[in-house]
Amino acid sequence: MTAPLQPSGKRIWDRCEALARCSEEPGALTRVFLSKEQRAANELALAWMREAGMSARLDAIGNVVGRYEGTAAGAASLMLGSHLDTVRNAGKYDGMLGVVAAIDCVHTLNARGIRLPFAIEVVGFADEEGVRFGATLLGSRAVAGTFDPKLLDSRDGGGASMREAMTAFGLDPGGIAHAARQRADVLAYAELHIEQGPVLEAEGLPVGVVTAINGANRFAIEIEGVAGHAGTVPMQLRRDALAAAAECVLAIESRCAREPDLVGTVGRIEAAPGATNVIPGHARFTIDVRAPRDDQRRQATVDMKAAIAAICARRSVKVDIRQTHEGKTTACAPWLQDQIGRAIEAEGLPVRRLPSGAGHDGMAIIDLVDIGMLFVRCEGGISHNPLEAITVADAEVSARILLRFIEHFNPAH
Ligand code: HGY
Ligand code: MN
Ligand code: MN
Repeated sequence: MTAPLQPSGKRIWDRCEALARCSEEPGALTRVFLSKEQRAANELALAWMREAGMSARLDAIGNVVGRYEGTAAGAASLMLGSHLDTVRNAGKYDGMLGVVAAIDCVHTLNARGIRLPFAIEVVGFADEEGVRFGATLLGSRAVAGTFDPKLLDSRDGGGASMREAMTAFGLDPGGIAHAARQRADVLAYAELHIEQGPVLEAEGLPVGVVTAINGANRFAIEIEGVAGHAGTVPMQLRRDALAAAAECVLAIESRCAREPDLVGTVGRIEAAPGATNVIPGHARFTIDVRAPRDDQRRQATVDMKAAIAAICARRSVKVDIRQTHEGKTTACAPWLQDQIGRAIEAEGLPVRRLPSGAGHDGMAIIDLVDIGMLFVRCEGGISHNPLEAITVADAEVSARILLRFIEHFNPAH
């Protein structure tokens, strides 16, 4: 009796390499929503899905959706997936690993000639990171039916609106609602994703079960001061927008450093007009704040907004604080945690449950169905960085566990 076919860590690895070549900048990986690089990545994923025996299509917002029918056509599906967009200068596995591993599981089932009592869908979400337009989880919100059409008027750094970018990509901005799925058609959602943190590696474990995804807020801050001559305006008469922003950054850092598990990040800051000998009249920066508990996160945002307002008032500069994203802490369903845990145990591995500090598409899909996540060790816990790395062996064992979860999936739980 030969051992049944299994997912291939090497094929998964190679496909992540292929996707990493779809980038807007040579020598680094950046792939944003509705870009030509996203189209190239979509084409690869569509081809792999079809090779795995799935029907495959782009949905109304540009997600890639593959479907592997069950024993009865049109059956409700177990939805798998992750995102295909990246941050700037990204690693190769954040998002992509989950899509490619799920395709490999279906590829293996198809090669074995197995059909299950439910369909399997694999989704490559079009925008989880929110790099281009600021708002995040766009693809998964469209699938969950919670996409906010007001976002179509948001603009990217070049001034193009999401509406214009969708039209240029060949999508109908008015048709996003067609991407929404019905609860009756989807049994659950499960996502394989790198941990993006150090815990699994520190404990010598290749995989873990996610208990919850920490909630997050994102803000865009604009500060308006007065530009002036760097050589003539005395310090006490200045209304320096960048100096005000810098004091705000340190206030955010110290507020978030006060509590364990609360994290706050200013990931981007800009000043204008940006000349050495001109006092900056304008500054803008972003805030990303997260915590395991919603009350803790919300109190931190109240305190940070108050500190920013006080700093700007004292410096006689104007400030505008705009929230661009809020995602509440999202629990992974215990029944899905247990079924993923059993698949891990069947591999002879200990079941390590842990929260996710990083956000994921499950924060949107929770509005449609229960969610579960399987974490994969990443080297040094590094992510959102080209040094992000996994091993072929971990790609293989995690895909094997995902496949075992799929084969034993019991929606009746
Ligand atoms: O920001 C995050 O946590 C995710 O990578 N979008
Ligand atoms: Mn990410
Ligand atoms: Mn991710």
